[in-house]
Amino acid sequence: MMLEELESIGKSKSGAILSKSCTLEPRSGNPEPRYSALPFGSINSMGIPNLGYKKYAEFSPKLKQFGKPYIVSVSGMTFEDNVTIVKELSAISEIDFLELNLSCPNLIGKPQVGYDFEQSKILLEKVFSVCKKPLGIKLPPYFDFIHFEQMATVLNQSPLAFVTCINSLGNGLAIDIESETALIKPKGGFGGIGGKYVKPTALANVRKFYELLNKNISIIGVGGIKNGSDVFEFLLCGSTAVQIGTTLVEEGVQCFERIENELRGVMERKGYSSVEDVIGKLKIKK
Ligand code: SIN
Repeated sequence: MMLEELESIGKSKSGAILSKSCTLEPRSGNPEPRYSALPFGSINSMGIPNLGYKKYAEFSPKLKQFGKPYIVSVSGMTFEDNVTIVKELSAISEIDFLELNLSCPNLIGKPQVGYDFEQSKILLEKVFSVCKKPLGIKLPPYFDFIHFEQMATVLNQSPLAFVTCINSLGNGLAIDIESETALIKPKGGFGGIGGKYVKPTALANVRKFYELLNKNISIIGVGGIKNGSDVFEFLLCGSTAVQIGTTLVEEGVQCFERIENELRGVMERKGYSSVEDVIGKLKIKK
């Protein structure tokens, strides 16, 4: 992600600037085509293209001028890389938060750490022993109550600032029937699914972790947010903030202002004056 892209987020109505994930060394990512829009979302296998973590540290004084939190996402290729990057970036005063990505499904030969509860626990312990900044993690989607509980037990033992639910739904497949070919090239066409397809899964993950995590761990919701009503649903489930993925790619940074205005409209119509009154208030049918 280039400086100009991050600056355009700085100038937009987005509440924070979040980099895409960075690694120790620069990476060009997976071969193209590696992203395709789909009728209700997207498929991607980007493979963490990025400029290397040092660049995102260099950008920080410029990005702080926008007066909003600057969050750097970290996705080291190895355990040791994650520890090194977190240690170095956590010493940079203009970076406000770190988000450790435990859930990229697109790295050939590398499993998603978030599906290995023991490994996640060991990594978090090590990372927090070197981190001097508030740090959160980005999780993959879970589908089974026992897995939510196992991961929540690990997370509740860490001084986490937040968890982000969810990364894309890993290893989907999208096909063009005329050419009978997978739409993207890497990994035999398999890639992470985002957009409307994943919203119910994302809401469920936010809700479950809201129920299970210590209340001092905030939850950031992401997955299929296209309009203000979608954000309202994430707030009801327990998110205190949201991230926008596919809609940002498809619409550009003006989506933040549109979605904020729509959320205001939904809240006014329903008689709410503050998001705090909505967070976590999902009702269950009796
Ligand atoms: C990618 O770069 O492959 C997407 C990022 C992610 O899924 O974590």
